[in-house]
Amino acid sequence: MRLVKRIAQLRKTIISAKRRGKKIGLVPTMGYLHEGHLSLVRLARRKCDFLVVSIFVNPAQFGAKEDLKKYPRDLSRDLKLLKKEKVDLVFNPLAREMYRDGHQTYVEVVDWSKLMCGASRPIHFRGVTTVVLKLFNTIEPDLAVFGSKDYQQAVIIKKMVKDLDLRVKIVTGKIVREKDGLAMSSRNKYLSKVQRKNAVVLYNSLKWSRRAYIEGLRDPKLAVNKMASMIKEKQGKIDYIALVDKNTLEPVKKLRKGTLVALAVFFGKTRLIDNTTL
Ligand code: PAF
Repeated sequence: MRLVKRIAQLRKTIISAKRRGKKIGLVPTMGYLHEGHLSLVRLARRKCDFLVVSIFVNPAQFGAKEDLKKYPRDLSRDLKLLKKEKVDLVFNPLAREMYRDGHQTYVEVVDWSKLMCGASRPIHFRGVTTVVLKLFNTIEPDLAVFGSKDYQQAVIIKKMVKDLDLRVKIVTGKIVREKDGLAMSSRNKYLSKVQRKNAVVLYNSLKWSRRAYIEGLRDPKLAVNKMASMIKEKQGKIDYIALVDKNTLEPVKKLRKGTLVALAVFFGKTRLIDNTTL
């Protein structure tokens, strides 16, 4: 497994792999890997010949008051995990390699980036699409794998790929959960013991919405109210609970099969997201 820090070196290695007829796969990450990331790496590994994992805590997707500085990092542990998964190359650039002095170009999926997570994180998706496009431009992967916990992110990236005629297949992997149902996230590390226990309510409220739908609930407002009261009971501070069309992210008037139920909730200062489809 090669560790590459520079774009020029990355390009050279990729060109040589392509010349050898290799199908290139990419899993973009911000590191501090957990089983959720590793499941994406395994999925990509099965679908390509030359697998690149990027580890880059992307400053452009963090707001001024967000956790960029304290975002957890452990490169040597990440490298060990990725070696076990038979990754071919890890790309781990410095911020100044990705955003050289005077950088001023961004790409944005304009409307969808304002919805849901975008309402409280106005520059977040612009930062995500910009860094992902830079990775796509440099690596020109045949396929790229993203997790479904960040459902909105995956939808926005697919839209960017479609709108900009990019030649990359976007594959999404399933949400991986802890034994009690909490979705795996690098940010779970920030939770106190009590918050960690309370945070399971996110999964429980999503499970409730699925059951209620099966039992005949169709009114999104009733669903939001019940989920909100479950979450508040566990000291969660709700950023949003959205019941939307899973392709367009438009709020639905009536729950139906395939409706996306997505939420973002703070436990203390830690903001967690999760989702399910009905
Ligand atoms: O999902 C993430 O970890 C990040 O948003 C991504 C896709 C690696 C871009 O920085």
